[in-house]
Amino acid sequence: MNKPIGLFDSGIGGLTVLKEILQDLEGENYVYFGDTARVPYGGKSKETITRFSIQNTQFLQSLDVKLCVVACHTAAALSLKELQEKFSMPLIGVIEPAARKAAEVTKKGHIGVIGTKATISSGAFEAALKSIDSNLKVFSTACPLFVPLVEEGWLEGDVVDEVARKYLEPLLSFGIDTLILGCTHYPLLSDAISRVFGDRVRLVNPAQETALEVRALLARLNIESKAAKGDTRFYVSDEPEHFRQMGERFFGRAIGSVVKISPDSFASSATEKAVAK
Ligand code: DGL
Repeated sequence: MNKPIGLFDSGIGGLTVLKEILQDLEGENYVYFGDTARVPYGGKSKETITRFSIQNTQFLQSLDVKLCVVACHTAAALSLKELQEKFSMPLIGVIEPAARKAAEVTKKGHIGVIGTKATISSGAFEAALKSIDSNLKVFSTACPLFVPLVEEGWLEGDVVDEVARKYLEPLLSFGIDTLILGCTHYPLLSDAISRVFGDRVRLVNPAQETALEVRALLARLNIESKAAKGDTRFYVSDEPEHFRQMGERFFGRAIGSVVKISPDSFASSATEKAVAK
């Protein structure tokens, strides 16, 4: 089936998720929407994040995607359930695949979770982990400075190490042996994060686990593309050129043309009526 897979994120971070999916599934077509006009989502309320997420999904639906990946951890944590109730297409997020992997690899049952303020205060990772095994102990902490550091390209150096130590050392005292990198940007800080923990803690990258989940879901629904190579289209809500330049660092590949659209004008279109209950 040659319909595209849709992904959305609050901005460029979701490109780390697309990168992993693409590596595994080159034959698929993709549509990526980055809500660059309204980024960041990480400090916003559930109500706002859910409204944005519904509009973003409506936009992807209008492009006839066969599956929608909520690549933004904050959007997935706060609104995946609402999206799944509202839309009939298959929708997956980044939380459950990461939780399954963490529960599988932890030896002591002590799991750390880091993410944006909204993700951590939603308790979504904790709920997903506990639903797998109620005996797991989950220790979560928000790391709000990580996103701007990554966007500035500060992935290494004293400042990054100091910020990482400040956020993460308390988790060490809880004896975690597994840490979920619960934000699109954090895999880019894997080296700095690993320096805090040494080899005592295994890092789980939700993007990699989500890629496996996408593959499995396509097979289960029998909607895989049979093509050898697909294409990827990029849409943003602001600053296409900025997205293109910064995005290549997250994506690890060249980004061709980027089209600007307006998701909130979208909300008043016919699509909204189609999904309204
Ligand atoms: N994409 C967001 C996430 O994964 C990080 C950036 C933001 O706060 O919007 O949580």
